Amino acid sequence: MPTPRQMHLGVFILAAGHHIAGWRMPGAEAGSENLPLIRHIARTAERGKFDLLFLADAVNTRPDMHPSMVLRLEPLTLLAALAMVTEKIGLAATASTTYTEPYNLARYLGSIDHMSNGRCGWNIVTGAFADAALNFNRGPHPEHDERYAIASEFVEVIKGLLDTCEDGIWTLDQESGKFFDAAKMHVLNHVGKYFQVRGPLNMSRPPQGYPVMIQAGASEAGRDLAAKVAEIVYAVHQDREVARAFSDDLKRRAVGFGRSADHIKIMPGVSAIIGGTEAEAKAKLATLGECADPIVALQVLAERLGHDLTSYDLDAPVPELPPSGIMRGHAVTLSALAKKENLTLRQLRNVVAATMGHRLIVGTPEQVADGLQDWFEAGAADGFNVMPPWFPGAFDDFVDQVVPILQKRGLFREEYTGTTLRDHLGLPRPAHPLQR
Ligand SMILES: Cc1cc2nc3c(=O)[nH]c(=O)nc-3n(C[C@H](O)[C@H](O)[C@H](O)COP(=O)(O)O)c2cc1C
Repeated sequence: MPTPRQMHLGVFILAAGHHIAGWRMPGAEAGSENLPLIRHIARTAERGKFDLLFLADAVNTRPDMHPSMVLRLEPLTLLAALAMVTEKIGLAATASTTYTEPYNLARYLGSIDHMSNGRCGWNIVTGAFADAALNFNRGPHPEHDERYAIASEFVEVIKGLLDTCEDGIWTLDQESGKFFDAAKMHVLNHVGKYFQVRGPLNMSRPPQGYPVMIQAGASEAGRDLAAKVAEIVYAVHQDREVARAFSDDLKRRAVGFGRSADHIKIMPGVSAIIGGTEAEAKAKLATLGECADPIVALQVLAERLGHDLTSYDLDAPVPELPPSGIMRGHAVTLSALAKKENLTLRQLRNVVAATMGHRLIVGTPEQVADGLQDWFEAGAADGFNVMPPWFPGAFDDFVDQVVPILQKRGLFREEYTGTTLRDHLGLPRPAHPLQR
């Protein structure tokens, strides 16, 4: 009997919670620098048999940023620590293609993949925040499509560097004195429009070949990069049919690049507020709303729409604003929602305070499971990037109350069957180009 299709689950760790007021909930702990909390989240996710955990990042900050992002540990360093306190769960983090060098990043990612025995994932971002340019010596933030062109070449260089050693390079033959097989080490000699990198990388090929590649672009250029290289795609959707069209489009584009549609997993974000009854869950949402800082909420919305909103009337309909080059995916989804539901700016601000524009399900564990099953079975998602409104309680509830329902319905694994992130996702390990 063929194995039934099962969903993939990842937890998006923003350790002060995804709701901007999450950290103020009773029992909530806060902090993107709180290692014991983050270790608890990682282990809880592994107990729940999640495919992966994910750490976002930016290389800038400002006082009115989302509380989960304003002050944070560097995520690749954090992944290395988490690799030591977990055994099976995939470990993914963001790193920018605009503000890092491929040689450095290939080493960091390769090291994490080695140290975790094949559990590393990389969220390829071009840098959604232009202020980052002020922290580097590279001139102004490149414009949107150029950032994607840089990213595309960057990924090529990363793969090339990770391939500079063929598999099976270690001989460690004490008898003959042959330490490793130097014939399996190659020079890359990459000379492109944006990068010139000779190589070889001073590291053997990692357990997964390449880390699992993740991308979250929703623009034309973003979708093309995702279709070309991504194995997980994060997305911001409120509407199931829009999500399905997005998934179909990404898979069609991936096939156009000669890839299998099964090798690109679409994982929209979803936040769940869980209660013993629907009324209890709604009361939690109301409490969160009352605790939210309106200035931070408006700034988080402004970042996503790409426009300063401070001069607009909060009680007037959301103004029509041209799409910006910052976070187009969020901007398009939020503008469509505002139009469909005739929202005022204040109402849209409150939506963003809760989920930054991602889907929100408020209800009992069964209602949350139903909401996930519905999108999964409709072909709108291969799985979900779970965005708990606060930690640890709201995520503990998800793992203890929602995951068992999904498992009982046969929609989610009861045990890990493999050891690497590629195993969990059903993705093949890419063979070395010279060994294919
Ligand atoms: C779930 C999710 C996570 C993201 N994480 C990051 C991140 O950590 N750092 C970052 O700069 N951008 C992040 N982004 C933004 C995307 O990388 C991208 O810039 C944004 O979706 C706009 O892409 P587009 O211009 O192609 O639409 C994230 C987006 C989503 C949906």
